[in-house]
Amino acid sequence: MTTLLKVQGVCKAFGGLQALSSCSLNVEKGTIAGLIGPNGSGKTTLFNVITGYVKPDGGSVTLADQDITGAPSNKVFALGIGRTFQITRIFARLSVLENMLVATQRDESWLRGLTRSKSSKSEVAAAMEWLDFVGIARLAALSAGSLSFGQRKLLELAYILVADPDVILLDEPAGGVNLTLLNGIAEKIRALNKSGKTFLIVEHNMEFVMNLCDNVTVMHQGADLVTGTPAEVRSNPLVLDAYLGGSEVDEAEEAS
Ligand SMILES: Nc1ncnc2c1ncn2[C@@H]1O[C@H](COP(=O)(O)OP(=O)(O)O)[C@@H](O)[C@H]1O
Ligand SMILES: [Mg+2]
Repeated sequence: MTTLLKVQGVCKAFGGLQALSSCSLNVEKGTIAGLIGPNGSGKTTLFNVITGYVKPDGGSVTLADQDITGAPSNKVFALGIGRTFQITRIFARLSVLENMLVATQRDESWLRGLTRSKSSKSEVAAAMEWLDFVGIARLAALSAGSLSFGQRKLLELAYILVADPDVILLDEPAGGVNLTLLNGIAEKIRALNKSGKTFLIVEHNMEFVMNLCDNVTVMHQGADLVTGTPAEVRSNPLVLDAYLGGSEVDEAEEAS
């Protein structure tokens, strides 16, 4: 196995709050890795560090042996790490297709996408292909703001697929999504994984994580606590302690 994404000893404090304290993680090429842990344990912050939205105080992030620690988000994206957000970031007033066309323009000025008239036929075709892949091509002409929560997550997934990333980071893809869409999302992730994409997925829905992931890392208070197969993680008493260790459990359940 080759390690594609490597996080070593990453630290990050916000004022007096230590969000990450020496967090380490390896994601092997071609696998689906899960990242779980109570609310506030630092999962989203770790995603922000990996994808260049937050600069770490220490530690390193490497992608296929290239040091990307502290690289800006557009550079990380260009190097092949795509990510979706816990709270989706779509342009609510643009149509679903227009959102996708912003994605195809991102290397130039994304603003051109907002004042657009000149998308080439091939750009539109590629955008429609990815919308079709995630199952929302029929919604292409609707304003993105009218989509359900789950449909927005699918749009965000389609949006990053345009750039053909090697590694895909998903932050709570199942959160607030109904069961039918949820199964659809899991199916898409499996298909993409078969085609060679590597995943790191933050998710509170345990069934989703345990069914999908090859390996799972449990975070606790800003550090990696346990990494193993779903079965190993499930039976590790430290993991139960981490989840039962405070009022965080209720928050975690509410968020899922
Ligand atoms: N930009 C920020 N400014 C201040 N505190 C933050 C910021 N981002 C995250 N935190 C804090 O860092 C901790 C970890 O948060 P987060 O990474 O969102 O956890 P998780 O995704 O596991 O729920 C929390 O206490 C959170 O309030
Ligand atoms: Mg989070």
